[in-house]
Amino acid sequence: MKEDREAGLLEQFLAEDHRRLDLLLLSAVAEAGQVNHQAYDQFRAGLLRHIGMEEKILFPAVQRWRGGEPLPMAAKLRLDHGALATLLMPTPTPAILATIRRLLTDHNALEEGPAGVYDLCDQRAGSEAESLLNALRAAPPVAVLPHSDSAAVMTTLRRTLERAGYRLDADSGRDVPMTPTREP
Ligand SMILES: [Fe+2]
Ligand SMILES: [Fe+2]
Repeated sequence: MKEDREAGLLEQFLAEDHRRLDLLLLSAVAEAGQVNHQAYDQFRAGLLRHIGMEEKILFPAVQRWRGGEPLPMAAKLRLDHGALATLLMPTPTPAILATIRRLLTDHNALEEGPAGVYDLCDQRAGSEAESLLNALRAAPPVAVLPHSDSAAVMTTLRRTLERAGYRLDADSGRDVPMTPTREP
């Protein structure tokens, strides 16, 4: 996609992280019907860290600079983040993976590009962009928990998806966990 603009520092860094996470997810499902759990765990840890960078560092800083006014779309982005974090909890199934991809495609489109949330952040950050970028880079790694397929997790998953305006793809009850290609 050609644009007549150069993305700012924050957008360049965070959009690049989106690309990296997309590639990790692709490599986790490179073999049809199977999930590479090593790559999937890297994707989970990376996505949780990315969400943490936005929610704990980027959004609060920009809200402060806006005199306490939240970014437009902040509430929607938070609902998406909650749904994504919950989607990472159960053992991945084709439906869960398809829903993650669909949600990320929609979500990243709200954050990237002209007039996207990152663009607003870059504009608002001005000369502070560099120090904010350093704070994002210094965000600590996130450890992932073992998968949980409990009834409580699945109920929370359906509820957080619904709040964000989504439902599990092919939510037919016939969805089965995918074969791991390798055990850790
Ligand atoms: Fe986000
Ligand atoms: Fe993002």
